[in-house]
Amino acid sequence: MKLENKIALVTGGGRSIGRAICLKLAGEGADVIIANSSLEPANEVAGLIRAKGRRCKVIQTDVTKYDQVKQAVATTLGEFGRIDILVNNAGGSAREKMSLFCDSEEETWDYILNLNLKSVLYNCRQVIGPMLAQGSGSIINIGSVAGMIGLASQVDYSAAKAAVIGFTQALAKETSRSGVRVNCISCGPMASSAHKMSEAMRERTAKTVLGEATGFDRFGEVDDIAYLAAFLASDESGFITGQNYPVCGVMNLGLNEPLMR
Ligand SMILES: NC(=O)c1ccc[n+]([C@@H]2O[C@H](COP(=O)([O-])OP(=O)(O)OC[C@H]3O[C@@H](n4cnc5c(N)ncnc54)[C@H](O)[C@@H]3O)[C@@H](O)[C@H]2O)c1
Repeated sequence: MKLENKIALVTGGGRSIGRAICLKLAGEGADVIIANSSLEPANEVAGLIRAKGRRCKVIQTDVTKYDQVKQAVATTLGEFGRIDILVNNAGGSAREKMSLFCDSEEETWDYILNLNLKSVLYNCRQVIGPMLAQGSGSIINIGSVAGMIGLASQVDYSAAKAAVIGFTQALAKETSRSGVRVNCISCGPMASSAHKMSEAMRERTAKTVLGEATGFDRFGEVDDIAYLAAFLASDESGFITGQNYPVCGVMNLGLNEPLMR
């Protein structure tokens, strides 16, 4: 097992991508701390992790509140002694708040930037000191293909996720000589989100995104992300830092149709 006895803190680990990452890290031998805004789904994940013989603690945390992030990291360090892996997963585009930029409001920008960008800074700022002191650590930021190509109606979200890539690169440059690595995974459209869409949106997304955009006839699966996260968390990726990994088929590469048939 490649993460034997490592301690992993995962934000938003109660559901979907975060849940899959928690289970995968635990399956590779890590003890997992889940910082999630709601307790119930996170407790269910914790039960599954303990059934694998790993330790797991759930800490109710809103990652947009710096004092709560400070508390979650302090509690983790107090009980587990160290943090080897930080996965900044909590985030999202808040579909009900999506609009064209010309119709958007400052309140929504603040919400999206706090959830997707400042939360990453908060968690990294609290974890980076202990990681530098121990001379090791792997930080994985969960981004989006929106941050690489920009998505209409998700301008604020695209901006936040693009900033996460820049942040990842810059922090990696500051920390590589101290044994701390920082990487980003930019996810494409996931099957776990399809059920949250309205039927009309699901149909539109299936028509435009699947096949044409990703080059696959399917959405991404949460395990597509979890496997890469486990690799980046492990010593197998010891020479990799400051990188961004798109997991979205060919969606980040532009035109996916032959110019001439
Ligand atoms: N699902 C997709 O299609 C997709 C695509 C690209 C990128 N992403 C990114 O992947 C990450 C996970 O997305 P998802 O779709 O799996 O999320 P999700 O909405 O399905 O689950 C998010 C989890 O985080 C928790 N959470 C929400 N707000 C929180 C907060 N303020 N503090 C702490 N926990 C909070 C929720 O309780 C839940 O457990 C996000 O960063 C998202 O931007 C997702």
